Amino acid sequence: MTAHLDDNAPVREIEAGTAPTRFARGWHCLGLSESFKDGKPHSVHAFGTKLVVFADSKGELNILDAYCRHMGGDLSQGEIKGDSVACPFHDWRWNGKGRCTDIPYARRVPPVAKTRAWHTLDQDGLLFVYHDQEGNPPPPAIAPPRIPGATSAEWTDWKGFKQTVVHTNVRELIDNNVDMAHFFYVHGSFPTYFRNIFEGHVAAQYMSGVAREDVRPRARDGQPQLIGNSSIAAYYGPSFMIDELTYHYEGFDVESVLLNCHYPIDANSFVLTYGVIVKNSEHFDAAAAEQMAENMCAFITKGFEQDVEIWRNKTRIENPLLCEQDGAVYQQRRWYEQFYVDVADIAPDMVDRFEYELDTTRPVESWRREVADNLARRS
Ligand code: FES
Ligand SMILES: [Fe+2]
Repeated sequence: MTAHLDDNAPVREIEAGTAPTRFARGWHCLGLSESFKDGKPHSVHAFGTKLVVFADSKGELNILDAYCRHMGGDLSQGEIKGDSVACPFHDWRWNGKGRCTDIPYARRVPPVAKTRAWHTLDQDGLLFVYHDQEGNPPPPAIAPPRIPGATSAEWTDWKGFKQTVVHTNVRELIDNNVDMAHFFYVHGSFPTYFRNIFEGHVAAQYMSGVAREDVRPRARDGQPQLIGNSSIAAYYGPSFMIDELTYHYEGFDVESVLLNCHYPIDANSFVLTYGVIVKNSEHFDAAAAEQMAENMCAFITKGFEQDVEIWRNKTRIENPLLCEQDGAVYQQRRWYEQFYVDVADIAPDMVDRFEYELDTTRPVESWRREVADNLARRS
């Protein structure tokens, strides 16, 4: 590419800004619901506070503020007694609606004894919590979409499910959704098609790519060779992404759904959660599908580690300097802002339909050359 540098251009300064202290409005996935149903209360550090998750006697999951309104004890260190969680400090009992149901040593429960109960959703094997700074209930229209494969016998269960703490603001992760070039340079993949569509609370990414011959592992004898992949991924709200990801092998496809979600711990850390389900196929048996799901997760783990390494060393930047082949970073950030303002302050340009397809001609040319050079150097 020829550069027409302007020697007199002023130095571009980075505006690092600061991460918002407010947390996004929306449904956040806390993990596999089963993991919370072991008869014990669980603590979850989220939204700058601590929550307690517990299952009542019917197995329904409840989420309350963890700090007991009596003297500040931590309910997540207590016990489940009947339908309530009992505080370890003085045994006050709190039910899933946040009502104090019993104080064994007291004649009566103070009528004002109520704590915060969070809206929960137990769906497709996943537990969700709804966060809204304004305290409104979740509108049905933004409920997390169902994942048909997650409850179907034709698909594996969630495999390779992982949760890991990442020490940066969540926006770094969101930016990835529009960042085609980093897939090549950071993840060793080769996008050939890339398009984003934002509308309402959904931010979608359509991507296809080819396998990079310079980095892909050589297929062992008799093993199918990976040719490429196509992916339709979308954030439904601020933190819950479903990626319908198809891997193309010589002669057949592998259909999978990759879950990629997170919840904020505080302004500068979040819990990243991911897992995969794979559809059975006539080309491989159920055991092979499970193995593929595990392998995919190992691959995805590596991918996230690559992102984390970038985030660990980079700065926050409010004014990215973009070239023509970069994606809709600013537009997506505008979309993302809708979750950080009061509902009354959501502006049309945060939710209006916006579509952007990257012209991949130039990136693909240059990446072909780079791959060819790498292969030539190797031989
Ligand atoms: S602090 Fe929880 S019962 Fe006293
Ligand atoms: Fe990435």
